[in-house]
Amino acid sequence: MSAKYTPDYHYYRDRLRGQAYPYACLDARLLRQNIRTHLQRSGTKFIRLASKSIRSVAVMEMIMTTDEKFIGIMAYHGAEAIALHEAGFRDILVGYPVADPGLLRKIGEAIRGGAQICLMVDLPEHLEMLEAVGKDLGISFPVCLDLDCSSVYPGLHFGVHRSSVKGVEGVRRFLEQLRSYRHLKLEGLMGYEAQIAGVGDTDTGFWLKDKVVQWLKSRSVAEIADRRQQTVELMEAMGFSLRFVNAGGTGSMESSREEPWITEITVGSGFYQSHLFDHYRQYRAHPALFYAVPVVRRPRPDTVVAHGGGFVASGATGKEKAPQVYLPEGGRLVANEGVGEVQTPIIFSQGPLPALNDPIFFRHAKAGELCERFNEILLLEPDSIRSLKTYRGMGWSFG
Ligand SMILES: Cc1ncc(COP(=O)(O)O)c(C=O)c1O
Repeated sequence: MSAKYTPDYHYYRDRLRGQAYPYACLDARLLRQNIRTHLQRSGTKFIRLASKSIRSVAVMEMIMTTDEKFIGIMAYHGAEAIALHEAGFRDILVGYPVADPGLLRKIGEAIRGGAQICLMVDLPEHLEMLEAVGKDLGISFPVCLDLDCSSVYPGLHFGVHRSSVKGVEGVRRFLEQLRSYRHLKLEGLMGYEAQIAGVGDTDTGFWLKDKVVQWLKSRSVAEIADRRQQTVELMEAMGFSLRFVNAGGTGSMESSREEPWITEITVGSGFYQSHLFDHYRQYRAHPALFYAVPVVRRPRPDTVVAHGGGFVASGATGKEKAPQVYLPEGGRLVANEGVGEVQTPIIFSQGPLPALNDPIFFRHAKAGELCERFNEILLLEPDSIRSLKTYRGMGWSFG
């Protein structure tokens, strides 16, 4: 992308004229720029794609083929991992545990047939279930230990509530158990520092909170680095030889890449660059994916109403989970209505209002969730527009 590429409302409106509303558009030039940004940010580490934040096989293939540093996928569901294997992907790590014995059996059968799928574990029950299925099928399940990487301060749990394996002693106990099983093979360690990777720390609209989060993050980064190092050393001392040590996410690459024992960083959101990821001190990327809904009403001289567009993001509820009015610039939502199921009023502080049937472009708060609303994404190239299927367009739905 040349430095001069600065697409604005009129550019997108005119290039996309005639497309049936609502539609999602991926600006290919901005996507390529974001890919380059994240390759640079990864330093010497490999990158694993967080499929949940992309949710399109076609887009994942586009990204994977740009560089050898993209080594595999972090899937978010066991059934998805099988589907990705069948679609031709290699080195699939399921980032979250599977607790359904029927599904584990299907994954086991896929592994027996040559699929490269590694499963996440952190509870004794996970191990027991996998061992039982592995024994039955006569296979060894590749597994990855999920290390809790939250920081606990007086009165504050800074991180997520996921893994039950906490601290080096917790790891030791877990590994003692793991090694007693004959149908499990420890391949990797994952230590996901959600409080660094997934929490914005600048320009969130709350200056003081940003400063506190920045300070908490800097403390937590050092603590988690120690924890991961000690865990890797313990694993080696206990005789385990790891194929990978996974950490991080889009928001933490600058700190995750500093730890020598980490081999790969998981990245997803930074490719589409959904708006929650505009609030990280360490990096900037371009809004590559957005969606359009048409203007259908004009109730006041400064207000238009768009048809629909209410695609609110998951997670703790808050205003920041609403889509952002992206283009034309200067539009804002009405506090009492927000983004509507079918009608979304938008107030403009200046300029001529978009005409009837013109698009209002929105950005989603989170990256992959938008794909659950559309069967296809319009890939906007400099001289063409082509349609890429989303997971939903392929009939894939994994919750
Ligand atoms: C286990 C794990 N790793 C990495 C990530 C990072 O994904 P992204 O780059 O989309 O923020 C996530 C996101 O939630 C995650 O759950």
